[in-house]
Amino acid sequence: MTEWTRERRYQRLEDTDPAVYAALAARVSRAPWRQRWHIQPPAGLLNDPNGFCWDGSRYHLFYQWFPLGAVHGLKYWRALESLDLVHFADCGIAIAPDSEYDSHGAYSGSALPNPDGSLTIAYTGNHRSAGWQRIPYQLTGRYDSRRFSRDAPFMAGPPAGFTEHVRDPKIWRDSRGRLCAVLGAQRSSGTGTALLTREGELLGELNTALADFGYMWECPDLFPLDRQSVFLFSPQGVPAQGYHCRNLYQTGVLIGAYDADSLTLTHGGFQELDAGFDFYAAQTCQGANGERMLIAWMGMPDTAYPTDSDGWQGCLTLPRLLSLEDGRLIQRPLPALAQLRGVRLERPTRLSSGELHYANPERTPFSLELCQGGGCAVRLDYDGGILTLDRSQSGCLPQLALDSPPQDKTNLSIRQLAVSVHALQIFLDASSIEIFINGGEHTMTARLFPPDGADGIACSGQGRLYGWAYA
Ligand code: FRU
Repeated sequence: MTEWTRERRYQRLEDTDPAVYAALAARVSRAPWRQRWHIQPPAGLLNDPNGFCWDGSRYHLFYQWFPLGAVHGLKYWRALESLDLVHFADCGIAIAPDSEYDSHGAYSGSALPNPDGSLTIAYTGNHRSAGWQRIPYQLTGRYDSRRFSRDAPFMAGPPAGFTEHVRDPKIWRDSRGRLCAVLGAQRSSGTGTALLTREGELLGELNTALADFGYMWECPDLFPLDRQSVFLFSPQGVPAQGYHCRNLYQTGVLIGAYDADSLTLTHGGFQELDAGFDFYAAQTCQGANGERMLIAWMGMPDTAYPTDSDGWQGCLTLPRLLSLEDGRLIQRPLPALAQLRGVRLERPTRLSSGELHYANPERTPFSLELCQGGGCAVRLDYDGGILTLDRSQSGCLPQLALDSPPQDKTNLSIRQLAVSVHALQIFLDASSIEIFINGGEHTMTARLFPPDGADGIACSGQGRLYGWAYA
């Protein structure tokens, strides 16, 4: 086992013998649990989706990447391009952490298209001083023909009143074409918040009713949807409440009205976006037809995954189409994914990669076992108005990698949701499950690490199970 010393975590790919990386990539390509149709790294660790945008002729999507192993080391941006968000071309490294400003990582950020076909990218450069003090630089640059050129930082270090944790700019243009950004931040008092900038100038904090809601807000996003404003963010340090917020860290939304003059969002309660296990750092983009789509990291910080010993970790969720209905953010799988459908299955008894539907119009209890084999299965049980996702017997499990994990909060095997279930749409890949409940009213997303060949299905209940195998 590699011992991940600081030196190894911050080892640059450019300074590594290409044969070492090639051997790692070859090992990863033969490893178990490699996904068939989700975005995953060729080797090393993938985390947040970054720079998700439509440039008028194609989609760009990047991800946080540490190439040399399954740890959060020196981060690069790796690029993908797509015409339909179903098939992606891997375009290699987009941003290498090769300046003073991002010497310890090209951290998360976003992108917008320019009229000339290039992209404006904004991201956080993570710099550490000789004494290991973190200094965040907020950077912009131009990404043109797959080449990146960086501008001088628009914000150097944290502003007064905030700690070194200021990062993840999400950009948009206001009605006058000015470049605006929202950033995740931590107040000096140790509470999470978001900052707003315009043309690189700090305007102030986003005013919300959440004065004391966790210790850090990561990966914020602020966008209009169905005549309302949505603030999406990933807060850390939020206590669990009943069935809610039982992941180590959350991703969720505030929905309401944003007033750009007073920087104020008038909003309802925090809505957790996913009731599964592995869902974090989501980012949205406005698509070719003005639609709003979301992609998240199918993973969680401070967590060890069963793939780590094979030299890789992490993948992205499938793209989800967003809408607001009755004050809730609805996530639907991108309709274009239907392109992947192969053989249609009625009452299937096996599936390893594909899509399942369970129609339950009478809302009666049911029990579904998936990825059955080798004495293992993941269970989805519905009874008494409670849907339970139980992966405790599904094979290998992720584990918290924290010295002192929050007590009474995180359970990596079982999650429950109070909901009246009339429809499920389930997406299976080699090592993940994404469950859309009642047409996207709720979702449950999880990585699964079943034994080899565990693809059995058992279903009991009065509903109808059908689906499609993906080619
Ligand atoms: C979220 C995050 C971001 C940061 C990035 C570094 O997962 O911690 O806040 O920019 O990952 O990879």
